[in-house]
Amino acid sequence: MTANKKLLFLPGDGIGPEVVGQVRRIAEWLASRRGIAFDIDEDLVGGCSIDRHGVPVTDAVMEKALAADAVLLGAVGGPKWDNVDFAIRPEAGLLRLRKDLELFANLRPAIVFPALAEQSTLKREVVEGLDILIVRELTGGVYFGEPRGIFDLPNGERKGVNTQVYTTSEIRRVAAVAFDLARKRRGKVCSVEKMNVMESGRLWREEVGKLHQESFSDVELTHMLADNCAMQLVRNPKQFDVIVTDNLFGDMLSDEASMLTGSLGMLPSASLGAADASGRRRALYEPVHGSAPDIAGQGKANPLATILSFAMMLRYSFDLGTEADMIEKAVADALDAGVRTGDIAGPGTSPVSTSGMGDAVLERLDAQLA
Ligand code: IPM
Ligand code: MG
Repeated sequence: MTANKKLLFLPGDGIGPEVVGQVRRIAEWLASRRGIAFDIDEDLVGGCSIDRHGVPVTDAVMEKALAADAVLLGAVGGPKWDNVDFAIRPEAGLLRLRKDLELFANLRPAIVFPALAEQSTLKREVVEGLDILIVRELTGGVYFGEPRGIFDLPNGERKGVNTQVYTTSEIRRVAAVAFDLARKRRGKVCSVEKMNVMESGRLWREEVGKLHQESFSDVELTHMLADNCAMQLVRNPKQFDVIVTDNLFGDMLSDEASMLTGSLGMLPSASLGAADASGRRRALYEPVHGSAPDIAGQGKANPLATILSFAMMLRYSFDLGTEADMIEKAVADALDAGVRTGDIAGPGTSPVSTSGMGDAVLERLDAQLA
């Protein structure tokens, strides 16, 4: 008998619990209809953990996350915690998870579903058929670099400091993930930095280039400055296949890429660590969108980014590509049938609720077994 796969759900704040709730229903469906059972534990992260325990993530939750086969996170933060101490703000919980689990490679695919091409703020022909993957470095750079802090100067002024820092191995391991993934896609990697201004950017470009020559010369590699990449993403996004970039540029470029797809409510992500001897990687999956406090608790949130994050979990953590494909197809079919939450509803369409979208996806899953 093999033990069930151990999942940790961390719904978090705002719309997090609502969207993660829809994934629970899909997990139940997999258990009853496909015989794929998970042991699902659930706990707190973010503001709700601050309220209960005084910290955005407890050591006990960190231990559970380390022991789990995969973690699914909803969202953290909200105006309620705007004034808590910076060190224990809700986002610090998410950052600790990423850092302590060593999840250095963050995969953020931006795919335009045919039914949503009209929903993008860009022209249909610019985004139709778009399928790009941003690989964002997630445990280094300015997010974690030292020194950092706000310091008092002798002249009475204050100084805010953060440090952008990358080592050879940090650059090479995330670039290797990007090259590997490109091989399974259209074979192109665009590496993005600011080598015209930053030494860390020069090192980034050199090391990605070296690794490419050593081990991935079958992949087509280009380099681009980050400001130009931001512009190219709205000018002609289909020129890209895989983009690999640092933590901060990846944060910004992935928000930008999400709007190509019509809504931030559509973008899933996977954050992966290094593979161990058995090939198993630590992994955390989360929608790219935030906690959307303005619509929290109203049943309006789009659960598709979280459902698609769960599909990524099945694919990357459990090698359940068939089931991941089924879920992605069910999402596409629901969208084709015109099912829309408010964020992706065009004029004249009446939006469904969060659970209404969950119903629609489950119905299309059932249809695939019929
Ligand atoms: C993201 C978010 C986070 C980040 C925040 C919530 C800390 O914007 O995952 O993109 O900046 O990484
Ligand atoms: Mg972000």
